[in-house]
Order: sequence, then structure tokens, then C-alpha cells
Amino acid sequence: MKVNTRRAKDVEIALVKEISIRTAWERFSDEQRRELDKETWSRRMGELFDMMVKKESHEVFVAEDEKQAFLGYVWVGEGSNPMTGTKHGYIYDVFVKEGLRRKGIGVMLMEKAERYCRETGYHEMLLLVAINNQPAQKLYVKQGFKAEQTYMLKRLS
Ligand SMILES: CC(C)(COP(=O)(O)OP(=O)(O)OC[C@H]1O[C@@H](n2cnc3c(N)ncnc32)[C@H](O)[C@@H]1OP(=O)(O)O)[C@@H](O)C(=O)NCCC(=O)NCCS
Repeated sequence: MKVNTRRAKDVEIALVKEISIRTAWERFSDEQRRELDKETWSRRMGELFDMMVKKESHEVFVAEDEKQAFLGYVWVGEGSNPMTGTKHGYIYDVFVKEGLRRKGIGVMLMEKAERYCRETGYHEMLLLVAINNQPAQKLYVKQGFKAEQTYMLKRLS
């Protein structure tokens, strides 16, 4: 399969939004889901997505096959270090369609995001990944990411 990566067209952003919200929900634990009202949460996430993606510093790139069929996406934007104010590239999400995984498409999308970050002039890329999301963690390590801090949580109820 010949894979091409390119900037998402406006019409594709709606699909990316739907997938991003669905997969974020799927990654929640049962405990987290119990605490949330799915409809309210999804609406809020949708509003947040719309607000962020329209910013100039945010880009969504899609992967497509030779017939222009959608294979996946990466959503990259700008973040800044609260201590130093230094700007960096931030990977908000990366997704490859179920059934097409382990074919190198995730790597291609991450490479596209990295090229964009280099061209923009960022010196670093950051992201947040769940400790139990082994496929994503392995992809990021393969792409040169290293864990620098551990986000810790203690459940109180
Ligand atoms: C994470 C994800 C984007 C990876 O996409 P992909 O196209 O399968 O990734 P690649 O084929 O480019 O794999 C690159 C490397 O990542 C690692 N990897 C990917 N999936 C893996 C899996 N299921 N188990 C173990 N390692 C895995 C491997 O090191 C792999 O290299 P290899 O195949 O040469 O061993 C995909 O699994 C996905 O869409 N997951 C759901 C969404 C998600 O969790 N996104 C991350 C949010 S933080």
C-alpha cells in the first residue's frame, strides 16, 4: 500500500473530531466513565476541539492510500513550558484505523508531525500518553521520545 501524508481538508476535520472524542472516551477507565456523563463530556470535548483546531498554531495531518482513502491522522499544536515560556510542538493525538495498524502508518504520521515542528522552529516535541497504552508508548519510543516526568494520581473515592 502506498501511503501519503498531507494536511487535512476542512471536510475531514469533522471525522478527526469524531474519532478523537470516541477514542479518548474508550481510553478512560471504567471508574472514570462512571464519574462522567458521556453526552455532556462529549459536547465539551467537541467545543474544546473546535476552539483548538482552528488556531493557526494547530495542524491536522492525515494519512491516505493511493485511492485517497483515510487511514489515520496526527493532530499537532503549540505548547509552552510554564516555567520558561519556551514554545514547543505538542502531539495532541495520533490515530490509525483499526485493521491497518502495525504497518508503519503511525510512524509516518509522527514523522510528518516532526517535520512540521522542525519547520516551525520548535526545539522540542512533547506529548502525554496513558501508562497502559503500550502500542502508543512503543511508537513514541521508536520515534525518539523519552519519559521525562511521571504524572501521578491517587484515587480518593
Ligand atoms: C498508537 C497507534 C497510532 C500506532 O499506529 P500504528 O500504525 O499501528 O504504528 P506503527 O505500525 O507505525 O508501529 C510503530 C511501532 O510502534 C510499536 N507498536 C505499535 N503498535 C503496537 C502494538 N500493538 N504492540 C506493541 N508495539 C506496537 C512497535 O514498536 C512498532 O514498530 P514495529 O511494528 O516495527 O515493531 C495505533 O495503535 C492507534 O491508533 N491506537 C489508538 C489511538 C491511540 O491510542 N493513540 C495514542 C494517543 S496518546
